[in-house]
Amino acid sequence: DLLKEIEELEQLFTVDSDKLKQITNHFVNELEKGLSVEGGSIPMNPTWVMAFPTGHETGTYLALDMGGTNLRVCQITLTDQKSEFDIIQSKYRLPEELKVGDADELWEYIADCLLQFVETHHNDINNVDKIPLGFTFSYPATQNYIDEGILQRWTKGFDIPGVEGHNIVPMFEAALERRGVPIKLSALINDTTGTLIASAYTDPTMKIGCIFGTGCNAAYMEDCGSIPKLAHLNLPPETPMAINCEWGAFDNEHKVLPRTPYDMKIDADSPRPGQQAFEKMIAGLYLGEIFRLVMIDLHDNHEANIFANQDISKLRRPYSLDSSFLSAIEDDPFENLSETADLFQNQLGITPNGPELELIRRTAELVGTRAARLSACGVAAICKKKGYNECHVGADGSVFNKYPHFKARGAAALREILDWPEKTDPNEEDPIEILAAEDGSGVGAALIAALTLKRVQEGN
Ligand code: BG6
Ligand code: GLC
Repeated sequence: DLLKEIEELEQLFTVDSDKLKQITNHFVNELEKGLSVEGGSIPMNPTWVMAFPTGHETGTYLALDMGGTNLRVCQITLTDQKSEFDIIQSKYRLPEELKVGDADELWEYIADCLLQFVETHHNDINNVDKIPLGFTFSYPATQNYIDEGILQRWTKGFDIPGVEGHNIVPMFEAALERRGVPIKLSALINDTTGTLIASAYTDPTMKIGCIFGTGCNAAYMEDCGSIPKLAHLNLPPETPMAINCEWGAFDNEHKVLPRTPYDMKIDADSPRPGQQAFEKMIAGLYLGEIFRLVMIDLHDNHEANIFANQDISKLRRPYSLDSSFLSAIEDDPFENLSETADLFQNQLGITPNGPELELIRRTAELVGTRAARLSACGVAAICKKKGYNECHVGADGSVFNKYPHFKARGAAALREILDWPEKTDPNEEDPIEILAAEDGSGVGAALIAALTLKRVQEGN
């Protein structure tokens, strides 16, 4: 049997309540540091989104969503009826080669998708007034204005030379110009900011927008008076400013996160070693890879010698298992884990025996549970910093929406961190609830474009 190996993995991957609290306390300090003049590793980027929507926004807007997995173009019409909108959308695949290719090719591809969309939905594009666009560009960007974004660094495995350190808006607009696409970028936004604004549009108790997907991040509304690094601008202290935390970078200096040798290997082999320490332990892009590295280790280096005498060449391919692979293992309803056995057989050509199947299932649980519990530290930290004792948090992303038990595990961890008493009634709401958000990169982007145009018209 493999009980000893399972125990060792449990030790490595379990994060107990005390550790969660310690991480959260450090997180609160790091959020503060990111807002200071000196800065810290969490970027805490001001987004120039400076109001929540009133619900009376109107107009037709385009939204472009470049998340990491797909490219999506939407046209959203906001009506004066609170929380009502029409949306049409098309999804385009973002080819893998483009993520590590040439910058021009990326912008040309995006411009082609936009052109195709506008041509389909507008009859005579030569006579169309420029349509305002909210561009959800979900990477860390420095913004001195809402229609600017200087890429700080690529995340989520992107590695396109010549873009980091540059404002991406002119590159994008030049590609539109070359094709005569009648679009005017009004706002560059992050998926978390979009999620925050879209969620607050339908539920004013939503205070934080989170993404738990390929990457992991959050945004919340700060007061300008609490952002020392903006003090030189003399903005009225009570004015709200949405902050895109970019909390994936939490603990890049490795002070509190319980990193395992597998996390260290992921980091070392990534295109940006030393970056996104928190994200690399919890985001969808990495979950399958962490699991894969555990399996390889137990095959190669261990007396365990799992999958002995089998051809594991398919398992050796980096990033060959995505988080849906782990989801499927965790979802296997059968006592004998026959679905997991089929999965290994069909996808990897490996036939695990009974104890190996137990080990596989437990490893998936450990990796998935750790991700959900660590994610809760970020949410708890923002709530502590802002003194939110009761609120809703809007969340989007494939891990939040699809990974089994992610929500329940995150909620349990929040309960432990914030010392809430046990519920007496299971249907009772928690003081802080993480709920599925409105489509932030569609509706949120449109709302932000509308808020921006309003601000421009008012001359602010
Ligand atoms: C989508 C949003 O729903 O979720 C994107 O439209 C966001 O803007 C994405 O980036 C995050 O999830 P994933 O799993 O695609 O990274
Ligand atoms: C990465 C990006 C961040 C984004 C998140 C979720 O962390 O750096 O901008 O919000 O992924 O997509």
